Amino acid sequence: MSANSSMMKINVEELESGMVTADNVIEPGTDRVLLLKDTVLDSVMIFNLKERYNVGEVYIKKAFSASTISQEMRTEINIHQSLSTLKNVFGSDEDKPLTDFSKEASKQITNVANDLITSLYADDNILLKMHQLQSYDDYTYKHCLRVAMMSVTIGKSLGLPRNKMHDLCEAALLHDLGKRTIDVDIIRKPGRLTDDEFAAIKKHPQNGYLLLRKNGGYTEEVMNAVLMHHEKFDGTGYPLGLKGGQITYLARIITVADVYDALTSNRPYRQPWSVAEAEEFMMGGANSHFDYDIIMAFLNAFAPYPVGENVLLSDGRKAVIVSNNTNVLRPVIKIVNASGSEGETIDLYNDFKYLTLSIKAVDRDGISGEN
Ligand SMILES: [Fe+2]
Repeated sequence: MSANSSMMKINVEELESGMVTADNVIEPGTDRVLLLKDTVLDSVMIFNLKERYNVGEVYIKKAFSASTISQEMRTEINIHQSLSTLKNVFGSDEDKPLTDFSKEASKQITNVANDLITSLYADDNILLKMHQLQSYDDYTYKHCLRVAMMSVTIGKSLGLPRNKMHDLCEAALLHDLGKRTIDVDIIRKPGRLTDDEFAAIKKHPQNGYLLLRKNGGYTEEVMNAVLMHHEKFDGTGYPLGLKGGQITYLARIITVADVYDALTSNRPYRQPWSVAEAEEFMMGGANSHFDYDIIMAFLNAFAPYPVGENVLLSDGRKAVIVSNNTNVLRPVIKIVNASGSEGETIDLYNDFKYLTLSIKAVDRDGISGEN
């Protein structure tokens, strides 16, 4: 084909997720079409073009080259592609239980981790995107993606080095892989579990660890994080009953992300908790269930009341968030009078005369205030 001004030919080494093909991509030496024109590239496709089919150059649309699409759009595309890759790798919960985790599957997980870390470093608005991934048919792979997004965000807040971040992201993506070895009727049972059913569920950390060990391509750090993600800081977790520093750092981060996601997700038997309710619960578990420093980094990264948010107070008044305190549930607020004019500024954490005043809810309806 002859190139025109709306496209450019680039080396496969320069391809990035989110770029769009401007022509069919043909396997070298054959006439087999590998990708059709107008395909949005993801990391798995790029990997296959490079490593599997030895494609040299590809025509891509200029308008969609990575440098011209917004970071937000790139993150959206990335999350969408990560979700479909994870679905392929994990299978749906209704599929036959997993007995094996292949090398090909682990390569795909590595690619998803690379893409997610790149997006999460560049995009701060990840909490919203994560909540958008929540749905009633909440499969294991979706939960794993959200926990990975959140774990990386906490890791970023803790200043974790990039190489550790990769292990963290892979471990978080795979933390519940072992659930796919368990009978779906137990995993998705809406009511109370029998002792035997609960014992079966509690095997998922070991089962995930064993699948990764059999795969042979994982570091101890990644495998241990999967094994220990249900341990609790005070030693009351499972499967090993480990305490404090005996639980690896990566596992302690994933635990925080895992519990937060479980609380704020839909369950067949209960409504999701609000961000503030979940964070309050988690603050209460610092030093017992969770590592205190990690909880602080988590609260820092996911302040429930961002500056500018409209809220309803326990005394019925409305206010707007001015700034956050170390206790993110008690920020500095400015009262909004019924007329819409600004009222007094109140520091809910440091001003003791307001000890009994608290934020009741986020005021999503703005003026009407009913929610
Ligand atoms: Fe789990």
